[in-house]
Amino acid sequence: MLCEFDYQPAANLLKDKVILVTGAGAGIGRAAAKAYAALGASVVLLGRTISKLEAVYDEILEAGGPEPAIYPLNLEGASWPDYQAMADRLYETFGRLDGVLHNASILGTLSPVQSYNPELWQRVMHINFNAQVMLQQATLSLLEQSEDASIIFTSSSVGRVGRAYWGPYACSKFATEGFVQVLSQELENISNIRVNSLNPGATRTQMRADAFPAEHPDTLRKPEEIMGTYLYLMGPDSKGITGQQFNAQPNR
Ligand SMILES: NC(=O)c1ccc[n+]([C@@H]2O[C@H](COP(=O)([O-])OP(=O)(O)OC[C@H]3O[C@@H](n4cnc5c(N)ncnc54)[C@H](OP(=O)(O)O)[C@@H]3O)[C@@H](O)[C@H]2O)c1
Repeated sequence: MLCEFDYQPAANLLKDKVILVTGAGAGIGRAAAKAYAALGASVVLLGRTISKLEAVYDEILEAGGPEPAIYPLNLEGASWPDYQAMADRLYETFGRLDGVLHNASILGTLSPVQSYNPELWQRVMHINFNAQVMLQQATLSLLEQSEDASIIFTSSSVGRVGRAYWGPYACSKFATEGFVQVLSQELENISNIRVNSLNPGATRTQMRADAFPAEHPDTLRKPEEIMGTYLYLMGPDSKGITGQQFNAQPNR
């Protein structure tokens, strides 16, 4: 596994880049959106809770970043026409995308396969995998307009080695890893688009607290503290690197 945890970005690393972040209202997505904006990117904040997206919008402006855009979308209910409409809107506004961070996910529950609620299984697979595929299909032509584009799919340690009771969450991340391999090979040599997977590792967010309620949060890094690999993969220093698995933290 590759890790750029100690990466030190140039101050203008992402100047004039247009980057879409899903699940930008909370947790790791919020930190990534702010980190990208702090280095000059215009960030499209996609998520399902408008008040959270508005808060991130305000925080970026207060920090002196370029004005972001808010795109409210619930990945659970969205269908193909919604993704096409989103891509059309982004094209009208920006003309292109330079990066996409697929970050939004839900945990579901931790339980044995035998007793897993089938409807919840489908919800988790849809939000964590199928929705991301549709979003990616719809935005590929926008990324093709960029001279140097990066797609990051968020994985997990249970998406690389299976673990009992992690059900559709683990399976959705395995599917994501497979999609990264398929898409990166398709785009290699015919485009300027690189596609990699990134496992954030144990991080102090609501999802982590839901998965490990007995764990003390102070033992975990905050999202803001794991941004090195997120920046490395989104910026030009990772140009030419595609189809790889990255970690955001060493040994987690
Ligand atoms: N934290 C960890 O330790 C850890 C470890 C390994 C992998 N990961 C991965 O890292 C990514 C971020 O996780 P996190 O810990 O930051 O989780 P989080 O705090 O629960 O945040 C998840 C984000 O996804 C959004 N989201 C969920 N369902 C959505 C939907 N249907 N439509 C649109 N947005 C939706 C949430 O929106 P709302 O705020 O509106 O609910 C939230 O902004 C996930 O892919 C997760 O699997 C995390």
